[in-house]
Amino acid sequence: MLDNKGKGRVKMFYVGVDLGTSACKLLLVDSEGQVQKSISREYPISFPQTGWSEQNPEDWWLACANGLQELVQGIDSTEIAGLGVGGQMHGLVVLDAQDRVIRPAILWNDGRTEQQVEYLNQTVGTDFLSQHTANIAFAGFTAPKLLWMREQEPENFAQIQKIMLPKDYLVYRLTGVHATDYSDASGMLLLDVKNKCWSKPLLEICGVSEGQMPTLYQSYDKVGTLLPHIAQQLGLSQTVVVCASAGDNAAAAVGTGTVGAGGCNISLGTSGTVFISSDHFAVDEKNALHSFAHADGGYHLMGCMLSAASCNKWWEEEIVGTTNYQTEQAKILQEHLGKNEVYFLPYLMGERSPINDVNARGMFVGMSMSTTRTDMTQAVLEGVAFAIRDSVEVARSQGIEISRSKICGGGSKSALWKQILANVLSIPLDTVVTEQGPGYGAAMLAMVAHGRFQTVQQAADVLVRVKETTFPEPELVQRYEQAYRRFQKIYPTCKQLFVQLKTQ
Ligand code: XUL
Repeated sequence: MLDNKGKGRVKMFYVGVDLGTSACKLLLVDSEGQVQKSISREYPISFPQTGWSEQNPEDWWLACANGLQELVQGIDSTEIAGLGVGGQMHGLVVLDAQDRVIRPAILWNDGRTEQQVEYLNQTVGTDFLSQHTANIAFAGFTAPKLLWMREQEPENFAQIQKIMLPKDYLVYRLTGVHATDYSDASGMLLLDVKNKCWSKPLLEICGVSEGQMPTLYQSYDKVGTLLPHIAQQLGLSQTVVVCASAGDNAAAAVGTGTVGAGGCNISLGTSGTVFISSDHFAVDEKNALHSFAHADGGYHLMGCMLSAASCNKWWEEEIVGTTNYQTEQAKILQEHLGKNEVYFLPYLMGERSPINDVNARGMFVGMSMSTTRTDMTQAVLEGVAFAIRDSVEVARSQGIEISRSKICGGGSKSALWKQILANVLSIPLDTVVTEQGPGYGAAMLAMVAHGRFQTVQQAADVLVRVKETTFPEPELVQRYEQAYRRFQKIYPTCKQLFVQLKTQ
């Protein structure tokens, strides 16, 4: 891709879309990896019952299409070469024979499938599930949602012609192709992750056929180009290459250069994840961590907590009543780190990794008359860090060494939160120059699909640089070690109480 005189690279742009839970974020990235522009479009989320969460796929599409139109304004449309979408995982999107959405999407943090999860894990059995899919059932995964729909909404279930994941719906609207990629498909509990094909036994258990599933691709494969009428609507060329893209965690990991063997990326987004990349397939003995395909062609293990930065958002916006998180956090004194008497359980939407408990709930414990609002703000940041450590501990107990990690996501914008986390985990945390979450990784995947790079590894080697590192501090590591030991006692003590509170 040299220009006419062979002197330099032809100017090209790539679009990276992050289909998040609260907003669709779009990035315009040039072929040298510089982010030229970014746009964000919010959409609503509905919680029709406690623990349920849904979104309307049409809202995603409108946000994405509007955002794209604005993103490419002022750019020569022939210079946009490729597009990728990193998307919230596990959500169930169902289409009828006319490719119309049958019902609102049931999202990754929806906990309505407790009974279906119990059926899958107890009756079908975790050994069977692990053998065929490399994972066990969690409430947010797609297969239990299909079982729920079959039981609770048989008319809707009977209409299903295509099952897909959130970002696949955008790719479908852009290209007309029903596609998914291995990283995102891994979280459906319908994929044989090791062999990268649909699992016939699991499809059968859920009462669906392979014909209802999207075609499987590598994340960096080209799925197609823009449909002519969509290209016209968006002001883009029909030649824009759309790649299969990836689940948001795999895309975010690509964006921080967490590819190949032995990398770790922690995301402090709406959810909190610990993502351990690997060049070979592996399953954690107890299936506490997810065993998924990676967007670079390899695999990864992942722990996912359902409410991470969203705990802080909830605390600041709903309870304290401010959007100025920085001012609130600035009141936390350095000498008070690791000495907080207040603890916070961050299970506002139940919890996935490692406790797998839809009934778990958030709670503050340890308050006295001298407790301040600032102590509670600190407890929220610390509670999330402790819960991230829970997943890291599972990985460590499997003999996986995590001695350093990248960090990304909205929460990583807080230097204080990174400091707390680095000390709770006792490892350095690297922030990369182009920290833009899944959108940047999605743009990198589009670059590979378009031929700008040969492999995802090559794209990461050329484009990703560490900007700054937050190092653990020995004294704080010690203090937080003791605090973590106390934190660990809270959930087991309250586990039964959460069940009782639910049934009351
Ligand atoms: C991962 C998971 C979340 C969502 C958030 O398993 O459920 O990280 O992908 O968008």
